[in-house]
Amino acid sequence: MSDIPTLLILNGPNLNRLGKREPGIYGALTLDELERQCELWAGELNLSATCRQSNYEGQLLEWVQDAEEQGFIGIVLNPGALTHYSYALRDAVAGQNLPVVEVHLSNVDAREPFRHQSVTAAVCKGKISGLGFAGYRFAMEYLAEEWV
Ligand code: DQA
Repeated sequence: MSDIPTLLILNGPNLNRLGKREPGIYGALTLDELERQCELWAGELNLSATCRQSNYEGQLLEWVQDAEEQGFIGIVLNPGALTHYSYALRDAVAGQNLPVVEVHLSNVDAREPFRHQSVTAAVCKGKISGLGFAGYRFAMEYLAEEWV
């Protein structure tokens, strides 16, 4: 890990399909473009960003569990559909000390009823939804301020 304070940017199931997946909802840009953008934003905030994506719940849990020990200062978390039902991910967030901001590209509250529930948001510092890539930027700004 670099000497620069580093944020962990986690994207969950299906977010590897950004750009191809329902572009009317999630936009035409890819996960790679999102991650490069997050790295640029981190630099502007005098931070660095490590970006990871997994389709596997257990992998996300382990990244959350290990983040503090690995030296990260905060987590931006888009859990994808796990948001709506993963008590295991909720417990992983609750069971560690780093500040976590939940982010959704789409406005989950304006979509199907099952997306209105987040089991993870209550154990996060807050939730940003519906602002596309900018939501990640705002989450990173918050975590940068929180860390100082
Ligand atoms: C999402 C919203 C979730 O409901 C959905 O399952 C996703 C993406 C978003 O970023 O808008 O996979 O987290």
